[in-house]
Amino acid sequence: MSLDALRAEALGCTLCPLSARRTHVVFGEGNPTSPLVLVGEGPGEQEDRTGRPFVGRAGQLLDQALLANGLTREQVYICNTVKCRAADWSTGKPVNRAPTEDEARACRRWLVPQLATIRPMVILCVGAPSARNLIRKDFKITQERGKYFPCEHARTAIATLHPAYVLRQQSATNDGGYGLLVSDIARAWETARKLLERRAGKPERAEDGVVQPTLF
Ligand code: URA
Repeated sequence: MSLDALRAEALGCTLCPLSARRTHVVFGEGNPTSPLVLVGEGPGEQEDRTGRPFVGRAGQLLDQALLANGLTREQVYICNTVKCRAADWSTGKPVNRAPTEDEARACRRWLVPQLATIRPMVILCVGAPSARNLIRKDFKITQERGKYFPCEHARTAIATLHPAYVLRQQSATNDGGYGLLVSDIARAWETARKLLERRAGKPERAEDGVVQPTLF
């Protein structure tokens, strides 16, 4: 199935209760032929309003971290663990929250075929909920970010800190993990690029170093 056909189906999804409050299904965007897919947590207020992933404050920091690696969003594909905003409405005013395991499981109905269509070399899980959904249920983001893990949907998966977490940690004297976000993106992109070159049969440049042989 094409991504457009999958998107069209997902727009009418009512598989979980998040569908009841959404303004837009945030399916994903970017380059569907990219060797790198970033999978975040789920849409926030701005994403729900616009239908586009990572366009709020966290998204702006993600753009900055991509740019620090000479990348734009058009060179990668960006989507989320859940396609509808997860929020706590108990006070009347929505407060973003992480998706539940059930919500993430329901949304695999869209994420799994989305990844199967794109067939990326590397998935970069942005934040713990994404890593727990795609790498391992008990993934520990602060201890295990930046490392290679096997993943059903790509040649390997790497996880990084969520930019919203980085924003919360930042202070005058602390980058909040922004440097780690930048270096994890660098590693994910370099690995994706090398694997793509290898698949195309191009000799790697000497300065490229060696991709971990146990994984590939
Ligand atoms: N946070 C996410 O994880 N995804 C978005 O699209 C926006 C914020």
